Amino acid sequence: MAHLGLIGIGVMGSAFALNLAEEGHDVSLLDRSADKMAEVVQDGQDQGLKGTLIACADAETFVKSLPKPRSILVLVPSGGPLDSVINMLKPLLDKDDLIADLGNSNYTDTEKRVADLENTGLLFLGMGISGGADGARHGPSIMAGGSRKSWARVKGPLQDSAAKYEGDPCCDWFGPGGSGHFIKMLHNGIEYADMQLIAEAYGLMSNGLGMNAAEIGKVFKGWMDGPLNSYLIEIAAEVALATDPKTGAAMLDIILDKAGQKGTGRWSVIEALHLGAPASMMAAAVEARNISADIETRLQMDAAFGPSPQAISTSKTDALVALEKAMIAAKVCAYAQGFEVLARASDTFDWDLNMAAIARVWRAGCIIRSVFLDEIADVFDGSGAKHLMLAPVFQAHMKTNAPALQNIVVMGLSNGHSVPAFTAALNYHNMRRTGRSTANMIQGLRDYFGAHTFERVDALGEKVNGPWHD
Ligand code: 6PG
Repeated sequence: MAHLGLIGIGVMGSAFALNLAEEGHDVSLLDRSADKMAEVVQDGQDQGLKGTLIACADAETFVKSLPKPRSILVLVPSGGPLDSVINMLKPLLDKDDLIADLGNSNYTDTEKRVADLENTGLLFLGMGISGGADGARHGPSIMAGGSRKSWARVKGPLQDSAAKYEGDPCCDWFGPGGSGHFIKMLHNGIEYADMQLIAEAYGLMSNGLGMNAAEIGKVFKGWMDGPLNSYLIEIAAEVALATDPKTGAAMLDIILDKAGQKGTGRWSVIEALHLGAPASMMAAAVEARNISADIETRLQMDAAFGPSPQAISTSKTDALVALEKAMIAAKVCAYAQGFEVLARASDTFDWDLNMAAIARVWRAGCIIRSVFLDEIADVFDGSGAKHLMLAPVFQAHMKTNAPALQNIVVMGLSNGHSVPAFTAALNYHNMRRTGRSTANMIQGLRDYFGAHTFERVDALGEKVNGPWHD
């Protein structure tokens, strides 16, 4: 059994400390709040956990309490707070001691931290951890990046504490530098797209079909019996079915329509753009959150332009059948975009990412877990398909469900609904499946105004100019 250090006893940190202790590992704790540490130690004792939790009064005591070479997990907010912890630890640590960041750090910062610390003889791992507080306590999904040597140090205790899918730990190492945090960032990008689709489906049902929150909750619940079975649909049902203890109203009718965000969705879009990979669904989700946040302007425009969205006249039964199918097709598109970005990053940064292994660690514990991920893992493991949608199983999903996606987009847009993620999914699918695109016009225009050249269809590889300016 291991003896690890853990700094940052917030909601995630305390839950993860208890999880490690449950697995029989000892954990030295360090936090600014002695009360919080005492509480966690007490919780560990009350729960009769096998490992011992040790509250440390200061950094020196904390470091001395750990066996060498030391392994220290840090769960503090990314950026400044993490750098302060690293700077505090650096002078106290010895060669080969390891610091592992389990926060949502930007992968470029992780790249720098790995390089800087390894220059001083210390080891650094950047690890994405998903699953919220409940996941941290009972089994999160963990995506690690850094040196193999660093990973070997903490692999055992982390895999013990991770979620299991049919016995396999949802915790793996994927490559050097910031690769683990890059994968976690993309996990969140997909999470944003999935959540936006759920919000759009909710909007179509409530504003378009006149359904109340409880009815909508039942629809989401029903979707759990089909291919949409996933954690986010499960909790969408619970959120829609919940009532406000104060007023008795549906919780959804009480929650202010102003979405928060901490940055990982936006980073995913920015990185995808840098890499030249498609991320239109994530971009739609980030933009919808941005626009939602400015309630005042929305209310002014609502008054200026009149009521929108309007009721949908299609029969409720038909619309709901189409909506479930549209969700399936759009969800496939969200995963396909996510894996396209990952593949591009892997090539660009020479990370040699194992796409099947990524899908495998997302099968349990994390926020985007869904039945699709097992199928995705099989596709990347076995078929050699270059693109998710070229694999027969996903071709079949799209052939069956893309027509409904088109119907839902048309139904939504023609009745004034905002369906940016559904629309982005449909456009992505249409563009990806179009053999002869309209980019010939772009090339003609570029060549006309800037002599940027183009290739002729009858002489590929040759850069030529058009006859525009004789
Ligand atoms: C997870 C979540 C987690 C967190 C996000 C939410 O995988 O457990 O993604 O990382 O809930 O930070 O991000 P936003 O606040 O940006 O929605």
